[in-house]
Amino acid sequence: MGKNNMSLRGRNVLGLEDFSKEEIRLVLETAKEMKNIIHRDIKKVPALRGKSIVNLFYEPSTRTRTSFELAGKYLGADVVNITASTSSIVKGESLRDTLYTVEAMGVDAIVMRHKAEGAAAYASRVVAPVIVNAGDGAHAHPSQGLLDLFTIEQHKGHLEGLKVAILGDILHSRVARSDIQGMRKMGMEVHLAGPKTLLPRFLFQEPGIFVHERIEEAMEAADVINVLRIQLERQKAGLFPSMREYARVFGVNEKRLSLAKKDVLVLHPGPMNKGLEIAPDVAYGDHSAIQEQVQNGVAIRMAILTLILTGGRKDAVD
Ligand code: NCD
Repeated sequence: MGKNNMSLRGRNVLGLEDFSKEEIRLVLETAKEMKNIIHRDIKKVPALRGKSIVNLFYEPSTRTRTSFELAGKYLGADVVNITASTSSIVKGESLRDTLYTVEAMGVDAIVMRHKAEGAAAYASRVVAPVIVNAGDGAHAHPSQGLLDLFTIEQHKGHLEGLKVAILGDILHSRVARSDIQGMRKMGMEVHLAGPKTLLPRFLFQEPGIFVHERIEEAMEAADVINVLRIQLERQKAGLFPSMREYARVFGVNEKRLSLAKKDVLVLHPGPMNKGLEIAPDVAYGDHSAIQEQVQNGVAIRMAILTLILTGGRKDAVD
């Protein structure tokens, strides 16, 4: 397919494994234009006027849900949020029935977060609206993977050939999986490190992916360090050392940061356990792009929604 007729219109966004390098590039380029809109005095364009989007969240979220909501609103769509705790889900309504209900109201897209891996893929099989996976268990979080790429490219000017260290709770991290997929497609070298119990080696035996037991090895000469949240709510007995021990052996602090390149970029998807996986002086330090990731999250989600709902009509964002 030629670059000019490449379209993501009608495409479900379930995981970055389904996206080609060129398609990822299209999202990143579109996000650049979208970022300008966020800085305007009047943040409203008609790209998605007349479209409706439901955010269906079965798990807690601050950044992802709010940024999808603002992204839709900045583009002129109608956006409604359904949060499990305040919906008929607490009365026992099944996922399938909830999806049918949302579909019957005539929505164009469903942005969905669920604790079960494959939940978004299931939704894409049972209802017609396009589905965006906003996190399904430990499987995937494609919009986070894309916003991480976008943030890195904005700082480094390119992606190919960069060395990235992804540190911490790899086992439970859908962010790590989407990052790895996206980064490999864009020609980056990925180094993973964390406690043995949180590092499922067999999953990552592929070219371009390196697994280390000591975070120092992964951090050495890294261009980018992505620190993952320890997913305390997903830990099972015996996987996790004490908090003190974790911070001592695996926490990213100023001293360890000096192992990386001088201009290393520090990322964290949030929310952070400060003092556990990341020291406050690193989180708020000069190398940190953590707040910027949040803003870029809005731009990336604007790009995703525009591309899947309209194919990205150029005139609509002017
Ligand atoms: C992540 C998530 O929920 O997967 N948060 C986010 O979307 N920014 C990461 C996390 O919870 O640790």
